[in-house]
Parts: sequence; structure tokens; C-alpha cells
Amino acid sequence: MVDYFENKAAKWDNPEKIAMANRFVDELKKHVTLNPNWKGLEIGGGTGLVGLQLFPKLKEMVIEDTSEEMLKVLRAKTEGMDNIETLWGDVTDYKNPDIDFVFSNMAFHHIENIPNLLNHLFQICKTGAVVVIGDLRSEDGSFHRFDPIPHRGFDTDELSEQFRNAGFTVQLVQTYHVLKQEKVPGKLSEYEQFILIAHK
Ligand SMILES: C[S@@+](CC[C@H](N)C(=O)[O-])C[C@H]1O[C@@H](n2cnc3c(N)ncnc32)[C@H](O)[C@@H]1O
Repeated sequence: MVDYFENKAAKWDNPEKIAMANRFVDELKKHVTLNPNWKGLEIGGGTGLVGLQLFPKLKEMVIEDTSEEMLKVLRAKTEGMDNIETLWGDVTDYKNPDIDFVFSNMAFHHIENIPNLLNHLFQICKTGAVVVIGDLRSEDGSFHRFDPIPHRGFDTDELSEQFRNAGFTVQLVQTYHVLKQEKVPGKLSEYEQFILIAHK
């Protein structure tokens, strides 16, 4: 498994990434009332900037990621904590149909086969489960200029259709933030971040 985040992990928890995670958490909490009986699953949870904020509101949580280095940073934070599990590998490696709540921030554009992922999520989610995804709307490729990534953001109509095809009901899709970053020297680019909420 290629780990494109191997060299980013140690410095991931910087003010910019923390602010980005916090904005997603704030937006998520506006729409979803977390339930202390829920089992949560985070996809591409990295160092836990999002998951560790939501964990205290849930019964248990699995944080999945394909980057061993990102998970090492996370494990250093969760040592000795009960009811939180890390999963190194593809989310399709998680097979138990016991998930009440799925969430993911800025990881979907790294995942090649979204329909396959959504079909799998539908299998492991309990009826009534809530899925909350935060990512970029379609961008010109400048966000990851030199890194190989499968998606230059998402056309959210297409993504919503993929959720519906997998069996989910899409409740909400909206832009909640516009990132302004100078990815190309001398050019300030804008990247719209959306939140999508779906139910099984
Ligand atoms: C932009 S980072 C976001 C990390 C974290 N969600 C946050 O908000 O700080 C993307 C994460 O997705 C992970 N990732 C990349 N490809 C993945 C895949 N196919 N399945 C699961 N996670 C993946 C990366 O290792 C990385 O930790």
C-alpha cells in the first residue's frame, strides 16, 4: 500500500489543518445530534483531528486510514483509551454490520473507487445510520498539484447520485467554507468545501 502521507504525518497537526478539521466538526454538529449509543467509523481519519473531537460523544469508534504513519501519530494520542480502535487498511476491510455513524473529512478525494466504497458502507451501516462527508467541490487540479490523486474534488450531483445508487438517502449537500490558498505561486485559488449528509 503506497503511503502518500508518510512524510506529512509528523507535521500534520499544524494550525491550518487543525482549523480545517474544526470547521468540519462545527458544521457537522449543526446538522447531526450525536448519540452516546452510537458506534462511529471515520474514513481516512489520519491523526484524529476530527475523530478525537467526536469520540467523547459516542459509545465507540473505529478510525480507519491507509497511512501507517498518520495512524502512528493517532495511536500516540489514544494510548490507554478504551472503545477506540484504529484500522490500518482499506475501509472495505471492516466487515461488521454495526456502524451507526460514518464521517470523513478531506479523505474521499483520495479514494479511487467511490461507488465500491459506498456499496460497502451500506453493508456495514445499521438502518438509520448517518453518513457525513466533507470534501472539495470540483477543482482544477491545483489543490494537489504534484501528488497523484484520483479525484479533483467532486461534482456533488454525481456524488449524491452515487450515494443514492448505493441505497442511501441524501439529506443535505451544501458549501460550508471556501479555502483560499496560494498553490500556484502568485495566484490565490479558491476551493469550495462541501458537507454531504446521507442516511441509510
Ligand atoms: C487530507 S488527509 C485528512 C486527514 C483527516 N481526515 C483530517 O481531517 O485531518 C487524507 C487522509 O486520507 C487518507 N487516505 C488516503 N487514501 C485513503 C484511502 N484509500 N482510504 C482511506 N484513507 C485514505 C490519508 O492517509 C490521510 O490520512
